[in-house]
Amino acid sequence: MSDILRQLEEKRQRARLGGGERRVENQHKKGKLTARERIELLLDPSSFEEWDMFVEHRCTDFGMAEQAIPGDGVVTGFGTINGRIVFVFSQDFTVFGGSLSEPHAEKICKIMDQAMRVGAPVIGLNDSGGARIQEGVASLAGYAEVFQRNVLASGVIPQVSVIMGPCAGGAVYSPAMTDFIFMVKDTSYMFVTGPDVVKTVTHEEVTQEELGGAVTHTTKSGVADRAFENDVEALLSLRRFVDFLPVNNREKPPVRPTHDPHDRTEPSLDTLIPDNPATPYDMCELILKVVDEADFFEIQPEYARNIIVGFGRMEGSTVGFVANQPMVLAGCLDIASAVKAARFVRFCDCFNIPIVTFVDVPGFLPGTQQEFGGIIKHGAKLLYAFAEATVPKVTVITRKAYGGAYDVMSSKHLRGDVNFAWPSAEIAVMGPKGAVEIIFRQDLGDPKKIAERAEEYRKRFANPFIAGHRGFIDDVIMPSTTRLRVCRSLRMLREKKLENPWKKHGNIPL
Ligand code: HXC
Repeated sequence: MSDILRQLEEKRQRARLGGGERRVENQHKKGKLTARERIELLLDPSSFEEWDMFVEHRCTDFGMAEQAIPGDGVVTGFGTINGRIVFVFSQDFTVFGGSLSEPHAEKICKIMDQAMRVGAPVIGLNDSGGARIQEGVASLAGYAEVFQRNVLASGVIPQVSVIMGPCAGGAVYSPAMTDFIFMVKDTSYMFVTGPDVVKTVTHEEVTQEELGGAVTHTTKSGVADRAFENDVEALLSLRRFVDFLPVNNREKPPVRPTHDPHDRTEPSLDTLIPDNPATPYDMCELILKVVDEADFFEIQPEYARNIIVGFGRMEGSTVGFVANQPMVLAGCLDIASAVKAARFVRFCDCFNIPIVTFVDVPGFLPGTQQEFGGIIKHGAKLLYAFAEATVPKVTVITRKAYGGAYDVMSSKHLRGDVNFAWPSAEIAVMGPKGAVEIIFRQDLGDPKKIAERAEEYRKRFANPFIAGHRGFIDDVIMPSTTRLRVCRSLRMLREKKLENPWKKHGNIPL
């Protein structure tokens, strides 16, 4: 008996060694942790249950028969993050460069299937040279099995990817179909074709980091949601992030007890809006002053900065915030911001997370770049997302809500449950200047007259009361009481029931 026990321990030891000391050392030299070290940091201490530690590849070509390593380049299993179950796979770059073989894919699929059965999130830690070259099509089939599961799991359980090394070619499409992608600066990259192919085809010279590093994807492409300095920061942030999410689409978001009073007033908000309507202010300040304990996890903070999206809590329950940012492009909606916010709204709606929207939007960004780029179709994504969302929706218009953008930003007309305005709100078809230049075109030669007309228009329309008369705004509130009013509304909406008509699925303008 003791022999068998010893053998088991030896086998485990062999698997834990991964690709061996030299390769582990190389991994560390690059500033990267190993697959197992990462899991240890991510999960609660001693909570990891590893599966399939003894799985080996079945390939015999290219001398592979002699090179089997238990685990086959990916560590899989489940554990807990602050007590809640999550499933994890962590690719081991020290074993065949973390490349994906058929059994490697089977291991990932096994935990994805189990996660679906029990309704728990899947977290993928990606660090892989792509398809196992020695295996050929078997490896491609493995990828497709994972892709299929990504799609079926979408909207059922949260899926989060962390890119912690190479992720190239078709392999990028599994993370791309998960809900969130985090990246590590300098050590991770994602691209469909690498710098060498790019050079051959387009003659562009570009480094790996420039083409697909964390900074590129969180500032230029919008493919990734957050960039972190190193593995440790990424994994600890992921723990904080997962705490905001419900474990599946049938559960409510988690509630974390808070000492922050729901009726906390913030007198400083009464002076947040500058006297001059053209002067920007920082919408982040409003979010931080309204959420529990100023704890806000922003998604895509460096991309399409004219809109802010992210998670916070109100009375302990997770809320998704969407807010125009007047500091960037005056808070206009453009292609990038519409797509960014639409995806976020749809995530919240999938997972029963109420949406609080802060509105200060002068309209859509004009220009040929936007029109040629398809602002019609992309702007429609955000409109569609807000309109189809059935989760509780609370909206606060702080200043401008002009034109189509007023409708889009979770207005009453898109089944907004509670729509507030601050006294500084201006709700109209367009700004006073633009309006009088159209309806009093004959006075255009007379600046004094135009200014008078604009002032007249401002007095008449640039306020919340016209919308209030019609019930499009439920109440005009003191800015300092925003937290209290939003908390009460969300409390009232806790058991909200609303269903869209049966359909196979809608046809969002993609
Ligand atoms: C098998 C691989 C491998 C792969 C790396 N290795 N990639 N083994 N299949 N895809 C092995 C190497 O042989 C090496 O083994 C070890 O992993 C580490 O690799 P190095 O090259 O020494 O590391 P590094 O210099 O850091 O470079 C990493 C890398 C490079 C940039 C990822 O290895 C590379 O370019 N690999 C090939 C990438 C690729 O073309 N993949 C297929 C893409 S197509 P030893 O024994 O020396 O430690 C694809 C299609 C997916 O993925 C389609 C889905 C639909």
